[in-house]
Amino acid sequence: MNALKKLNPYFLKHKGLLVTGSVFVIISVIFKLFPALMIRNSFDTIARVIEDYRSGAVRDETVRWELIRYGMYIIASAVLQGIFMYFMRQTIIVMSRHIEFDLKNVVFDHYQRLTQRFFKKNNTGDLMNRISEDVGKVRMYVGPAIMYALNTGFTIILVISIMISVSPKLTLLTLVPLPFLAFLIYKVANLIQSRSHAVQSQLSNLSTFAQESFSGTRVIKSYHKTPWFVQKFKEEALEYRSVNEKLFRVNAVFQPLMIFMVGLSTLITIYVGGTLYMAGKVSAGNITEFIYYVNLLTWPIASIGWVTSLVQSASASMERLDEFLNEAPDFTGGKYSPAEFKGHIKFESVSFTYPNSGVQALNEVSFELLAGESLGVLGKTGAGKSTLAALIVRQYDPTSGSIFIDGVDLKEWNLPALKAHLGWVPQEAFLFSDTIANNIAFGMDAADLPEIITAAKAAGVHNNIIEFPKSYDTAVGERGVTLSGGQKQRVSIARALIKKPEIMVFDDCLSAVDTETEEIILNNIKAATQEVSSLIIAHRISSVKHCDQIICLEEGRVIEHGTAAELEQAGGHYAELVALQLDSALEGN
Ligand SMILES: Nc1ncnc2c1ncn2[C@@H]1O[C@H](COP(=O)(O)OP(=O)(O)O)[C@@H](O)[C@H]1O
Ligand SMILES: [Mg+2]
Repeated sequence: MNALKKLNPYFLKHKGLLVTGSVFVIISVIFKLFPALMIRNSFDTIARVIEDYRSGAVRDETVRWELIRYGMYIIASAVLQGIFMYFMRQTIIVMSRHIEFDLKNVVFDHYQRLTQRFFKKNNTGDLMNRISEDVGKVRMYVGPAIMYALNTGFTIILVISIMISVSPKLTLLTLVPLPFLAFLIYKVANLIQSRSHAVQSQLSNLSTFAQESFSGTRVIKSYHKTPWFVQKFKEEALEYRSVNEKLFRVNAVFQPLMIFMVGLSTLITIYVGGTLYMAGKVSAGNITEFIYYVNLLTWPIASIGWVTSLVQSASASMERLDEFLNEAPDFTGGKYSPAEFKGHIKFESVSFTYPNSGVQALNEVSFELLAGESLGVLGKTGAGKSTLAALIVRQYDPTSGSIFIDGVDLKEWNLPALKAHLGWVPQEAFLFSDTIANNIAFGMDAADLPEIITAAKAAGVHNNIIEFPKSYDTAVGERGVTLSGGQKQRVSIARALIKKPEIMVFDDCLSAVDTETEEIILNNIKAATQEVSSLIIAHRISSVKHCDQIICLEEGRVIEHGTAAELEQAGGHYAELVALQLDSALEGN
């Protein structure tokens, strides 16, 4: 339950709504009780009239109007009760929506500040669940649970004190079944919670499966796996039906259980009340009044069980949320933010081990790149090339050793100041569901079309873009056009070029482009990056042979380092690669 204390600041923030809401709850409870007193008076009046009639006394003609008046009072208080219940919802439920909104923003904001390690550790589904499902469950506590708890508390206190003032004995006996009702409802509510959870998770299985089968439809059809998918979907859907049936079964018990318990209490009221009436201890009006009270108490008492179960699951959700909110970013950056940026890069015995897998991806890597120079990085898959790039753009910090930019340790750099000068083209191009123009202008505060076009031309994708139906305004992603791998890579290059950063990192971003286009783009990049320090990661010799320096990585170590001519002379790995790629180029012709 401790986790829920974390919500107190939110209540405090919206205390106005909470306090007025509580006042509305009290008022609506008072109007809910008022009819009981009117019913008591009516029945007592009727009993008096019957008495008078029997004893032959003068008939009191005003009685009719008295009864009509009581009836009017009952109608009026029902209307007022309704109005105040409306206000109660309008305040407390509205407050819970405000808190839900705050919480969602807090969680999302926190996600944005966390570093790569966190996103590698938790899958997207988990992140989504925290922000939707768990926040939703917490809302059930700050909204409905609080509202019903207040309502129940006031109703129980008021009703029971009136009942005791009428007859303590009758009160005691009438209320005997109700605690059992609360307990049973609590059990049933827990069962409902756990079964709805099963329904939810099966529904998510089913939709994930369906989603995958839609996006993978081409592969499914070409391997003729359609019957298998149909069969598997049927199985998942059957499972979904069966968990739903289990849920319905407990749901079906809920209502009868309540009616049974109320019936029992009513029975006791009539029997015990009847005996007390005959002994002259209570009036006829008191018995009817008690029947009304029993009915009034049923829902509040049942809701004790329901509220308890809501609070329990909200507390579990809050704990999960808290676990995420307590995650600190691995680093937050320093203060260094110079007026001038040159682009000098130096690696000093940099080693890096991935925290989640324990894989050592870089081992004592050192090199120095003067401002405006270019470095080519070669190596097989898994050699550590992408890791090298990720360290420069500070997605991770080195496990040991240091990286200096313009002579200052990366850790001392202010992150926004550093990132303003970096352009990174990732190995896997990622485009947002937006127009092509906006995807290219992504890193800019503002960019006009001519700038975007210049960048797209340099990245060799302009001619493709103008062939799309809406040219630069064409939407990409699920509901837009599907770009080929090479087109995506080039849009991603344009996104980095338009920023005109001082350091550019191209991580194997021409792998899906043919050699000719690659040549053109490389020339453009070379022209665009003459003043710029650039890192070109590739597996083709052609991509790096013009670089000022080249390093070859193997299992995280630098095995060769020099200019293209030097390395060819040395007759090592690089020279082998040159011979190999020359052969295959010749074969290709
Ligand atoms: N996010 C990650 N978590 C754990 N291990 C990783 C991660 N990314 C890469 N690795 C591992 O680090 C090594 C180097 O990978 P990477 O830098 O991507 O190589 P390259 O880009 O040269 O293909 C590989 O063994 C790879 O499995
Ligand atoms: Mg890579």
